[in-house]
Amino acid sequence: LAEGATTDATAAEELPVLPTDRRTDCPFDPPAELTALSDEPLRRLRYVDGRTGWLVTGHAAARAVLSDPRFSARYELLHLPTPMPGMDTVTEMMPAPVGDFLGLDAPEHTRFRRLLTGKFTVRRMRQLAERVARFTDECLDAMEQAGPTVDLVEMFARPIPALMICELLGVPYADRDRFQEHVATLFDQAADVTAKAEAFEAVGRFMGELVAAKRAEPTDDLLSDLTTSDLTEEELIGVGGVLLAAGLDTTANMLGLGTFALLSNPDQLSALSADPGLAEQTVEELLRYLSVADPILRSALEDVEVEGRLIKAGETVTVSVQAANRDPRKFPGPDRLDIHRKATGHLAFGHGAHQCLGQQLARVEMAVAFPALLARFPTLRLAVPPHEVPLRDRANIYGVISLPVTWDKE
Ligand code: HEM
Repeated sequence: LAEGATTDATAAEELPVLPTDRRTDCPFDPPAELTALSDEPLRRLRYVDGRTGWLVTGHAAARAVLSDPRFSARYELLHLPTPMPGMDTVTEMMPAPVGDFLGLDAPEHTRFRRLLTGKFTVRRMRQLAERVARFTDECLDAMEQAGPTVDLVEMFARPIPALMICELLGVPYADRDRFQEHVATLFDQAADVTAKAEAFEAVGRFMGELVAAKRAEPTDDLLSDLTTSDLTEEELIGVGGVLLAAGLDTTANMLGLGTFALLSNPDQLSALSADPGLAEQTVEELLRYLSVADPILRSALEDVEVEGRLIKAGETVTVSVQAANRDPRKFPGPDRLDIHRKATGHLAFGHGAHQCLGQQLARVEMAVAFPALLARFPTLRLAVPPHEVPLRDRANIYGVISLPVTWDKE
């Protein structure tokens, strides 16, 4: 038997699988089976390949796992707790492609991380903050012209993060529409496999051309900066792809689902509208409450004890970010969206060595975009009943596929 395999097939079969369906009565809440586990911070779980592993739902246990280098992020060591969206037969993961440092451990991971952390400078983030405000206004202008009923995902939640990634990477203005079209297909839940594969190739080609252009003629952006580092051409292209993949869908879904959550909690919505100074803490609370990037997987490199339980070498640990962010010991009354609470310490950006590199950028985007949206459309509301909003329930990043909204025209 390979490491991590169970010798007791009956026991494995009796174990629960990861519950994935968010509550039907409230699309923002974790599956009821998950929150019911709050007095048992970690427990055994059955994986897709029949192996046993672990599920972590407690906030302290989640932090312990994510900050412990004895847990690996290498994709090829992970077992899957649920089938991959659209690829039900896949049970094993491939090693990280070149440049994808999310799937590497120290010291390989550290090399990328050091290089990149140095490029997310305060100056660059400040510069980007100014651009967010301008882009947001442009999106709101376009909404106003198209309205008073629009899809907020298409006109607001997607374009803002996409334009910010273009700024970060230095995608020339002339190429942005082409670039965004490919990227939209790549992340479109409804797009078929062939269209996605074509878009994936197109984005790869685009990134290759972009890196070559930055080498020939560097401009003031992160990708140009990286051309003077020791990263190879292939690594640079990979890093560009990772920033795109990690920064786009996440932020877009926070903006879409976040707006839906605010519209569903009118008291919170009016508190934010009345005092835009609450924007930053609203963003933290929405990150906690929605936990769109979930779960995070790690594999034990050796036997490790966590909160009195022994995780064996080779076993996969599924850290449920949504459950940890609703742990009542850390966040009292966790199922309440309360923009007045201090939600700091949430795990929506992960924790430890892989904690989100783009979190400051994501925070700025949201802290600018939400108040600007509410200020421009004070009567903003859903254009369909809440249960008709299509949810991304079969994707790595949770959110809404579209969000039909409307407002009163003056
Ligand atoms: C890592 C969430 C926005 C770039 C992560 C991780 C989470 C996360 C949970 C940790 C994954 C793990 O431990 O395996 C989010 C959320 C976002 C967001 C919820 C939006 C609200 C962004 C943006 C960028 C970005 C805007 C880039 C511009 C990255 C990168 C990593 C990462 C590069 C990998 C870091 C590493 O492995 O060292 N993010 N992210 N993210 N994120 Fe984000």
